[in-house]
Amino acid sequence: MTKKAGKVPAKGDKKVAPSSGSAGAPRINIGISERDRAAIAEGLSRVLADTYTLYLTTHNFHWNVTGPHFNSLHAMFMQQYTELWGSTDVIAERIRALGHYAPGSYAEFSKIATVPDVPQQPPKAMEMVRILVKGHETVSRIAREFIPVAEEAGDDPTADMLTARCTVHDQTAWMLRSLLEE
Ligand SMILES: [Fe+2]
Repeated sequence: MTKKAGKVPAKGDKKVAPSSGSAGAPRINIGISERDRAAIAEGLSRVLADTYTLYLTTHNFHWNVTGPHFNSLHAMFMQQYTELWGSTDVIAERIRALGHYAPGSYAEFSKIATVPDVPQQPPKAMEMVRILVKGHETVSRIAREFIPVAEEAGDDPTADMLTARCTVHDQTAWMLRSLLEE
């Protein structure tokens, strides 16, 4: 059975990416059906929530890392949170281009994110690295899940963007994972 874009499950009890636009503006006519655009916007909202949560975790670890590897991890986390921060804008603006509002609140993100919230108590440095490996792997899996959905709807720009996100997350997970090897 082939996947249909309309089958993307909404997480939670309400749509997180409601459609936007007003009676005064022309209808969106970019060759992707309204139903498919809605489904893709929901999927992208989940990727956005997870990316944002991972961004905040990484920035928190940049602030709170301690120990003999402080310098290298502090700098590495900065490079990573900067990349993640930039990507949230690209994901959110793709949702807007598809005619939906992008979620952007802690309340909404916490409802739909799969990546767990930032730990209350800063973990030890190598535990931070472990948490970030899992986070990048999780976002990669979530993004990858939606690539065929976008492809089947003919939404190549979204499919390409999600593919690029997977490349970054897989590479970052590898770099972090390497720190944990003896
Ligand atoms: Fe800083």
